[in-house]
Amino acid sequence: MKIVAFEIEAWERDAFGELSDDHTLILLETKLTAANAKDYADADVISTFIFSNLDQNVLEQFDDLKLIATRSTGFDHIAVDYCQEKGITICNVPSYGDSTVAEHVFGLLLAISHNIVEAADRTRRGDFSLTGLRGFDLQGKTLGVIGTGSIGQCVIKIANGFGMKVIGYDVQPDEKLAKALDFEYTEMDDLLAQSDVLTLHVPANRHTYHLISDDEFAKMKEGVVLINTARGSVVHIQALARALADGKVAAAGLDVLPDEPTIREEYELLHSFFREKHDLETLLAGHILLRLRNVIITPHNAFYTQEAIGRITETTIMNIRAFAAGEAINVVN
Ligand code: NAI
Repeated sequence: MKIVAFEIEAWERDAFGELSDDHTLILLETKLTAANAKDYADADVISTFIFSNLDQNVLEQFDDLKLIATRSTGFDHIAVDYCQEKGITICNVPSYGDSTVAEHVFGLLLAISHNIVEAADRTRRGDFSLTGLRGFDLQGKTLGVIGTGSIGQCVIKIANGFGMKVIGYDVQPDEKLAKALDFEYTEMDDLLAQSDVLTLHVPANRHTYHLISDDEFAKMKEGVVLINTARGSVVHIQALARALADGKVAAAGLDVLPDEPTIREEYELLHSFFREKHDLETLLAGHILLRLRNVIITPHNAFYTQEAIGRITETTIMNIRAFAAGEAINVVN
């Protein structure tokens, strides 16, 4: 098989290199885009991370693509319906960093609750004053977890350690799990009304698109803290900007933003407005949030630890090998 892997960093080369024993292998630093897809039209297998956008106009440039091995859990960057129609298998890495992402959730939350970013900025400038740095305890606060799957469950375990009261909402509640992890399921509206801190762990799909918007913010407690490490599209970003402006949301910790690959580079704002028709208001809201002191944004690095990336590489290679052997694993479509 001809395997083309995009977005490959130096540390991945050796591990992926072993695939060249049995296959033709091309490892590229670049993202897969509509502009370069044609150059690799004869690939049987492609592997990307999430910053390549595998939409239909990219995928239809491949002549006989058989497998997409995404090096991520989420597969919302892939045109799943098109793959279904064309018989292209999609494999993901279902569980490489549940605790990794859960730890990042608390990294963001503690940074907010103890004003760590502002405090560290000040001491670097030689300013040791406490003015404006008063935080709040996590102990005794109610944490609302939306999506009690693999990552949500790790978050709940950590929250228990902090002495938080946990409530959960999931389209597929698991009462056994709730008992084992000592939390209660509630209806979405109750969860919104009761939570001091809300954290999102649902996949991005058409059902979760703008799951948190003006109506949901209206139902939340005054001064709620929102943490989003799921996907940018789950939160209506303009609604979040409004909720932050009127004080409904006291602070937000975001590892993900809508139109993330675009927002990563300032110059792309104009480029995308004129050439790719991204929603300018969404991009602007993202840029506004980047500058607010009560919003902490990380560049989608919740998963990015030594241990987790090792597991991603290992599973992706296993996915490709299993597919080549006719026994595909971790298939999502
Ligand atoms: P999972 O599949 O184990 O859990 C997702 C849970 O959400 C399931 O329990 C499901 O029933 C529930 N759910 C689905 N639709 C829902 C809805 N409309 N309302 C309420 N609950 C709903 O997924 P996992 O591994 O916990 O990951 C969750 C998401 O986290 C991924 O889909 C991915 O987008 C994101 N992620 C982010 C990373 C980062 O670096 N920031 C890294 C890894 C994953």
